[in-house]
Amino acid sequence: MSDTRVPRRRRYLVCEPRHFAVQYAINPWMRPDAPVDVDLAREQWQRLIRAYRDHGHTVDAVEPAPGLPDMVFAANSAVVVGGRVFGSLFHAPERRPESTHYDTWFKAAGYDVYRPESVCEGEGDLVWTGRYVLAGTGFRTTREAHREVQEFFGHPVISLTLVDPRFYHLDTALFVLDDDNIAYYPEAFSPGSREVLGRLYPDAVLATRDDAMAFGLNSVSDGRNVFIAPQAEALSSALADRGYVPVPVDLSEFRKAGGGIKCCTQEIR
Ligand code: ARG
Repeated sequence: MSDTRVPRRRRYLVCEPRHFAVQYAINPWMRPDAPVDVDLAREQWQRLIRAYRDHGHTVDAVEPAPGLPDMVFAANSAVVVGGRVFGSLFHAPERRPESTHYDTWFKAAGYDVYRPESVCEGEGDLVWTGRYVLAGTGFRTTREAHREVQEFFGHPVISLTLVDPRFYHLDTALFVLDDDNIAYYPEAFSPGSREVLGRLYPDAVLATRDDAMAFGLNSVSDGRNVFIAPQAEALSSALADRGYVPVPVDLSEFRKAGGGIKCCTQEIR
């Protein structure tokens, strides 16, 4: 069955964790008093980049800026569909300066960047499915931003409400497998949003709480290979049963900041 899954080459934008640290707490995973192993974090991140390249994907990098310890989480900087860049406006003042650095990269790469008026954290909460945008709200990105996103792209935006502070970004609770399917953790969503997901994706791969706590839903799929936290065991085997190929990449040091594989990866479409 796995030979029916076809990967598509991707272009990813990342940011080296040169200044990565946990210096403030803006989500329940962050504990500024618990040390981060900076060398291990760098090694883990390098392994992720190598895994992408080994699978034929293009990886571009933004220069990290000192004093911005969360800048490694490139996914939060924008959402890019059809070469159009919808920038970010961070909820936390600590992260707001990151946007300028990413915008500078996009502009140098030849893209115009739309600056949102409402709080909006890029692919952290705005997930392009190939047909529409699934948009999270509840902790970071606002409903006003969802409206801006729809107006900007002219693609339908489906608002989903997140209810568990551990899963404060949509990309901690859901990821896109391919043009037809997704995986998600139902309990992270309000009852109505759960129903919406059930109607849109009746065959979705459902994750357990353990999978979600391991950041298993913060995964990146190329349509066949799924770059996923090795601790998300049940989810990995469920994906393998469906013909996907789990590629385990351990980013345990980044979990201390509330991040994982997808958080470190911005897709340029
Ligand atoms: N410490 C960062 C924050 O709370 C982690 C961001 C994780 N990124 C993501 N796409 N979920 O903003």
